[in-house]
Amino acid sequence: MKIDVLTLFPEMFDALNSSLTGKAREKGLYTLVCHNIRDYSQDKHKRCDDAPFGGGAGMVMLPQPIHDCISAVDPEHTARRIYMSPRGATLTQARVRQLSQCDRLLILCGHYEGVDQRVLDIDIDEEISIGDYVLSGGEIPAMVLIDSILRYVPDVLGNSQSTVDESFSQAMLEYPQYTRPQEFMGMSVPEVLVSGNHAMVDKWRQEQALLITRKMRPDLLEDK
Ligand SMILES: C[S@@+](CC[C@H](N)C(=O)[O-])C[C@H]1O[C@@H](n2cnc3c(N)ncnc32)[C@H](O)[C@@H]1O
Repeated sequence: MKIDVLTLFPEMFDALNSSLTGKAREKGLYTLVCHNIRDYSQDKHKRCDDAPFGGGAGMVMLPQPIHDCISAVDPEHTARRIYMSPRGATLTQARVRQLSQCDRLLILCGHYEGVDQRVLDIDIDEEISIGDYVLSGGEIPAMVLIDSILRYVPDVLGNSQSTVDESFSQAMLEYPQYTRPQEFMGMSVPEVLVSGNHAMVDKWRQEQALLITRKMRPDLLEDK
């Protein structure tokens, strides 16, 4: 998978050089190229924002540098072009899984009060939100999107079964997990998990997943 990110703050994406996403990059399982939108500004001071028409707080990102950057990075429009935006469709595990099938993604990160609407209308395929709250920029949302998608890219996870068993994979939350020691501060691991009976373990996990989902996220069970 190839991912192009358009941002005013490319250095923020150094955070993806750690942990799972960093290892996957080292192994060549995906490529990530960050493009600085400012490099495409035709303004002599490299400005990328201006005051909103109609007045109001803050600044709006200019359409010209973004349009030129997108046209240079994806001239044939072969990438799925996404704008990270609080007004977009809220990201779900199902959408993450679908996007992981794309060969190319282009992710636009907004800043300030957002982006001139015209460049979104001309160049963007979809808007994605990571939740009903407002962050100062699209960089952290873009990293959330990239991390969640990469978990579905073959060989990124050590064990591909992880994405099958985990929360949201079957419209349920995950069962409780335990590791050593078997007893901790007077609390023991549930007996069934050390019984060696795999059928019983599976049954217990399914029951626990259902109980936890019913308690924490009953909305997930509504369609079941
Ligand atoms: C301060 S926000 C702009 C908010 C905008 N004025 C509004 O009220 O919808 C700046 C940028 O952060 C990003 N952003 C903020 N919250 C986000 C969210 N929940 N999901 C995805 N992107 C978000 C977007 O790229 C946005 O252009």
